[in-house]
Amino acid sequence: MAYETILVEIEDGIGIITLNRPEVLNALNSQVFKELGEAVAELNENPEVRVLIITGGEKVFAAGADIKQMANSTAVDIATRGRPSMKTFNTIENLPKPVIAAIGGYALGGGCELSLTADVRIAAENAQMGLPEIKLGILPGGGGTQRLPRLIGAGKAKELIFSGDFISAEEALQIGLVNKVVPTEELMNEAKKMAKKFASKGAVALSLAKSCVNEGLKMDLESGLQYEHKCFSILFATEDQKEGMQAFIEKRRPNFQGK
Ligand code: CAA
Repeated sequence: MAYETILVEIEDGIGIITLNRPEVLNALNSQVFKELGEAVAELNENPEVRVLIITGGEKVFAAGADIKQMANSTAVDIATRGRPSMKTFNTIENLPKPVIAAIGGYALGGGCELSLTADVRIAAENAQMGLPEIKLGILPGGGGTQRLPRLIGAGKAKELIFSGDFISAEEALQIGLVNKVVPTEELMNEAKKMAKKFASKGAVALSLAKSCVNEGLKMDLESGLQYEHKCFSILFATEDQKEGMQAFIEKRRPNFQGK
């Protein structure tokens, strides 16, 4: 499919989506949300693709939702226009394949919230992250008030949301907002390295492990443990489980088929 606001490539089983509106620091307008949702769904359908990377490249991840597009919206517009961002963000979060956000430069507002829908965040040393919506007289409406406290705890999340401050990659690492910080010029190499590591594993096990964590976070511990047990049992019906354990016994690398 042809896209105007994003670039989509497939490399060694990794689907790479690059936000591509550099003139406005990759601000996320309704077209980006629509195209991003379509691209993610397309890559999910492609059996060749085992892991996704979402990035804006080294210079800027995304400076938030498009303020110029939003500025004249009424409350009724916002309440009734179907929230394309929410649909796309939920699709990414619930995708059965692992998603890595590779963050260079600004990841602000909706950009930061987009990164929160990924399973893992890798930040370049030049990354600056934050939820500055409060400075615009609004609040983070792309999941920031919900996903951020679940990731880093309510206290730190409230500090970021109430102040609107930007934080550096190092601070983001310290508070658990990103998984690792890498030299800026190494951002894509590091993201691809991690993606390849994930891609070499069994696709069904990856998908169910992701589901266990995501769904478990919505449940009490006992229900989560029961859900985990069901997913664990299902994996014993896969060829990958037989292959993984046989490979261990035969002291060789497993060759997972995602079946
Ligand atoms: N929406 C629309 N356009 C944006 C934008 C945004 N979020 N962020 C940057 N741009 C545009 C600028 O208007 C500018 O365009 P022009 O050249 O046509 O004027 C261009 O990108 C370059 O930006 P700056 O000149 O401002 O670049 P800078 O280096 O001086 O500053 C910045 C960079 C600090 C990131 C600054 O651009 C900025 O503060 N951007 C807005 C950040 C923000 O508030 N994000 C939250 C948006 S609201 C949101 O995301 C809601 C939600 O919850 C989903």
